[in-house]
Amino acid sequence: MSSTLLINKKIKKFNKKIKVPGDKSLSIRWVLLASQATGKSKAQGLLMSEDVLAAINSIKKLGIKVKIRKNYCEIFGNGINGFNFQKNLTIDAKNSGTLGRLILGLLIKSPNKIKLIGDKSLSKRDFSRVTRPLQEFGAKFYYKKKNKLPLSILGSNSVEGINYLENKGSAQCKSSVMLAAINSSGSTSIKAKKSRDHTELLFRYLKIDIKIKKTKKYDFIDIKQPKKIPAFNYQIPGDISSSAFFIALTTLADDSELLIKNVNINPSRIGIIKILKKMGAKILLKNQKNYRGERISDIFIKSSKTLRAINCSSELNSSAIDEFLIIFLIAARAKGISYFKDIAELNQKESPRLDLGSKILNMMGIKTELTKNSIKIYGQPNLEIKKIITIKNYLKDHRIFMMSTIAALTCGGKWKIHNKDSINTSFPTFLKIIKEIKNK
Ligand code: S3P
Repeated sequence: MSSTLLINKKIKKFNKKIKVPGDKSLSIRWVLLASQATGKSKAQGLLMSEDVLAAINSIKKLGIKVKIRKNYCEIFGNGINGFNFQKNLTIDAKNSGTLGRLILGLLIKSPNKIKLIGDKSLSKRDFSRVTRPLQEFGAKFYYKKKNKLPLSILGSNSVEGINYLENKGSAQCKSSVMLAAINSSGSTSIKAKKSRDHTELLFRYLKIDIKIKKTKKYDFIDIKQPKKIPAFNYQIPGDISSSAFFIALTTLADDSELLIKNVNINPSRIGIIKILKKMGAKILLKNQKNYRGERISDIFIKSSKTLRAINCSSELNSSAIDEFLIIFLIAARAKGISYFKDIAELNQKESPRLDLGSKILNMMGIKTELTKNSIKIYGQPNLEIKKIITIKNYLKDHRIFMMSTIAALTCGGKWKIHNKDSINTSFPTFLKIIKEIKNK
């Protein structure tokens, strides 16, 4: 049963220091790669959310031993393609597109059919974007409903590397093929539109033979099958996508300051910072350091009295892909008309976020012009909502819930926000941190 959050007061000014939980993309990738390593890998700061637990349960079902302790997690990998499981296995990716799509790359040699299922939201999302390239490796897929979960995968005994063009800017598609590449003989060549590069950085750190050539729009990646992946320890930094809600909260609150410690600011993830800075937000990156190819920093934010509209370059889209809902909220409070284009992919997420983002702004009294691929947002810097706003269960999208909470705390009105439990997908401590910030 999901519960409802009621908010009828704006947040008072604050000056706080917080930590957000581990990066979701890195957490899922660590689990999947540790399952292919030989021996005991250990992670600290692993995100303990439903998406990551679904990844852990999936590899456990595939015969991998996992120990979850209070402050760390250990995975005892059986080597590449070392899964060991019974017939008629079903794996549940729950709400996680990343898990559902990436794990298929590790199953292309499975001698028995494995069924992949997901929750209502994931079962509405397209899987042909990964099953098409994985078919080329030799795997077979069986769908009940066209291109949607549930599906079954039957691997092939002899899989060879492929040439693959990834043209959506999807890190999930790219990474699924990269994981298949470590299970295939020969080499795999990928031409991929820019997207987050955590998998590449992990491959490099693990000394997998990977060559990357970067051009403005595309990355050219060559991978040779490794003989072995060494077990590896990893300290997962904080998630910029979780931080984004607090960056927005502080930007829109009155006279406040916030320091978020130890966040992954990988350049392929910081579209939100670039976009908000262009709009006049006060964001500083402090104590930057490198960790295993990733870039980590503290993020300092100060409230902004004046924000300006943006005509957002689509080059920033992939690095802000999970943050658009909260960016739309900032645009709703900026002076002028903001324009975001080439963002049809947003409707392919946990819920149709382009349509729903627009709908929520409209409920708040903000005018929008929406197409399948773009949105114009007519900002109101002095917006003061007076009415009751009810946010329903939109496929239990965690980011719809969190964006609505930030809107309620910064724009006034009486809000009833359903599906508190949705935060367990990516950010179980979200409301606890809000409380921390509110407490004097
Ligand atoms: C992710 C990639 C993105 C993002 C998702 C996480 C990843 O999806 O929206 O939340 O960890 O690879 P796409 O690659 O489909 O754009």
